[in-house]
Amino acid sequence: MSYKEKLDTKKIPRHVAIIMDGNGRWAKERNKNRIFGHKEGTKSVKSVVEAAHEIGVEYITLYAFSTENWNRPEKEISGLMSLLVSGIKEELNYLHKQNVKLSIIGDGKNISKNVKKAIDKAVEKTQNNTGLNVVIALSYSSRWEILNAVNNIIKDVSENKVSEQIDEQIFSSYLTTANIPDPELLIRTSGEVRISNFLLWQISYSELYFTEKFWPDFKKEEFFEAIYNYQNRERRFGKTSEQLK
Ligand code: FPP
Repeated sequence: MSYKEKLDTKKIPRHVAIIMDGNGRWAKERNKNRIFGHKEGTKSVKSVVEAAHEIGVEYITLYAFSTENWNRPEKEISGLMSLLVSGIKEELNYLHKQNVKLSIIGDGKNISKNVKKAIDKAVEKTQNNTGLNVVIALSYSSRWEILNAVNNIIKDVSENKVSEQIDEQIFSSYLTTANIPDPELLIRTSGEVRISNFLLWQISYSELYFTEKFWPDFKKEEFFEAIYNYQNRERRFGKTSEQLK
């Protein structure tokens, strides 16, 4: 029986966030360059987006490029950006037909014009779609996002646009993920067990799933396995098991 068949259709998470890791090591094992690994990684992106769509996940957030990734060799950065642009261009019509709504979170200021142009076009074309939301975290880091929120709050308080009494809801509305529910599940591939500055505020109560599989080896069935694993956990939100019964 496949993992997909084992899933409880009433317990599908609304939002799954993914740290796609291990493209470089996957390529190295095959004596190929890192870009070859990233290219293969885009196939996994497609698989996972399809899988999420099939089971009715509402939001999928993919960590495509962190603010720290700007420190990688120039050749790798431009290779990754080209893959992103070609991936978006090639898949835009398909995504649109599937009713997918694409959005981007992150610090736009370092993104080059041609990347921005391709992204803006895709975001605009899909903005009224009502199916799966695919959120790409690009030039994103959680500390950047939190500081950005704090600075905007300070500005709005000084202009009397918001009261000084900031609660969780108000704070969340200043994050790049405003209007997106917190992820119930965070997946990281490649055997690394850390969060790497991703959605620190939003994953307060997320279930964390780590797998040894490198991202290029993470396809539909691996995604369904992660969801199955999530469905068999007890989410207590600080309460006791007995209270949940
Ligand atoms: C991590 O592997 C992966 C990345 C930094 C980039 C992920 C990007 C893609 C899969 C391509 C484009 C994305 C979209 C949304 C179309 P790594 O390089 O850190 O691998 P390593 O840890 O083995 O070196």
